[in-house]
Amino acid sequence: MQNNPESYIAEQRLNPNRAMHGYFYRSPVVFELERDQILTRSWLFAGHVSQLPRAGDYFLFELAGESIIISRDETGEIQAQLNVCRHRGARVCEAKSGNTRTFVCPYHGWVYSLDGALKSAREMPELEKSKFGLLKPQLETFHGLIFVNCDPGAPSFLPELECIDDGISGHNLECAKVADHRTYQVNANWKLALENYLECYHCATAHRAYAKSHTLKAPYQEVASLNEAMMSRSQAATGISTLTLEVQRGFSDADSPGGGVEYSRYALYPGYLTGSEDGQPVAPLMGSYLGFDEGAGDFQMGPLTFMLGYPDHCVVYRFTPRSLTVTDMDVFWLVRADAQEGRDYDISSLTWLWDHTTKEDEYIILRNAAGVSSKFFEPGPLHQEYEMLNRKFVRWYLDRLGDGLSLAQSSGAGT
Ligand code: FES
Ligand SMILES: [Fe+2]
Repeated sequence: MQNNPESYIAEQRLNPNRAMHGYFYRSPVVFELERDQILTRSWLFAGHVSQLPRAGDYFLFELAGESIIISRDETGEIQAQLNVCRHRGARVCEAKSGNTRTFVCPYHGWVYSLDGALKSAREMPELEKSKFGLLKPQLETFHGLIFVNCDPGAPSFLPELECIDDGISGHNLECAKVADHRTYQVNANWKLALENYLECYHCATAHRAYAKSHTLKAPYQEVASLNEAMMSRSQAATGISTLTLEVQRGFSDADSPGGGVEYSRYALYPGYLTGSEDGQPVAPLMGSYLGFDEGAGDFQMGPLTFMLGYPDHCVVYRFTPRSLTVTDMDVFWLVRADAQEGRDYDISSLTWLWDHTTKEDEYIILRNAAGVSSKFFEPGPLHQEYEMLNRKFVRWYLDRLGDGLSLAQSSGAGT
């Protein structure tokens, strides 16, 4: 086989039930294609509005060589702009988060306002400032969740997100706050981290605590009666009638390639009310939840963002590629905004399960990264049920890469 992306994509397409070839995890050529076709064209979770309570607050969302400033301007609007000066390209904001009235480029001192407009360009009075504002990715918020997309031509994400409104609206996330946010950086290609999240085949072997409480670790037939019982009590227990309406529009099933959502609900094992070490509540009920149905909501929002929805808290899980071999796994724990730490929740109890589970994932992802870098690795068969989403991801992924290559060929690039 020729050592180029076209050959590997064609070969992988012929084997849709096989794990991905190691080439995709270690090729810098592939990573460049991914940056162009996936990372800068997809809707990605940047953060939550509660991280910007005051005018002038900002934080950076950084991925694959890009840096995006998310800020709240003087009018209260959330803004997103690329952290790249319009003069000669320096970063205009270095701190990861803070509060400011302006962004001042450290190189030659151009000054930008919170909405990205160029306010002054030193010693260049003739400059038409309105033409040199910071470039702006698209930004949309949904129940307080902030999403960005660097592709100016990408269709709005909101019609897709509306499809999961029945499952998510009961949490009232616009009235929630980030109680904790941790970044787990792993020295592995982003697809290994993502593919690990997409399947629960490994849960029984790698996550003892999670597997004790979450029925996703078992084949569906084995836990079907638990799921049916949860579904039938859900409305009476939670006061919400729409939690059982599942949605499957992820990856290639979405109307636009950079969006896609999924929602399903599954039972926790008897005795577990929520995703905590002992199954007992770790925060006050969120939004319109009146109680626990011993179920958990599983959300996907775009290709790299996921969320676990429990009646008392939500856990947003984001995969952020930083380079070919470095990936951030960001976990955000959300509780209702009026909950007080110490009185209503304790950070270590709230975060225990997903902190513990993520560290277990780091361990297996690192070992997977080491294994697939072997030139003797031969991709093996995927599990028919457990690894269904992995197949769905790979099909979408190959299409995105393939589109990029055909675009490059039709425009004569790379010749
Ligand atoms: S690069 Fe920013 S002012 Fe020159
Ligand atoms: Fe895992």
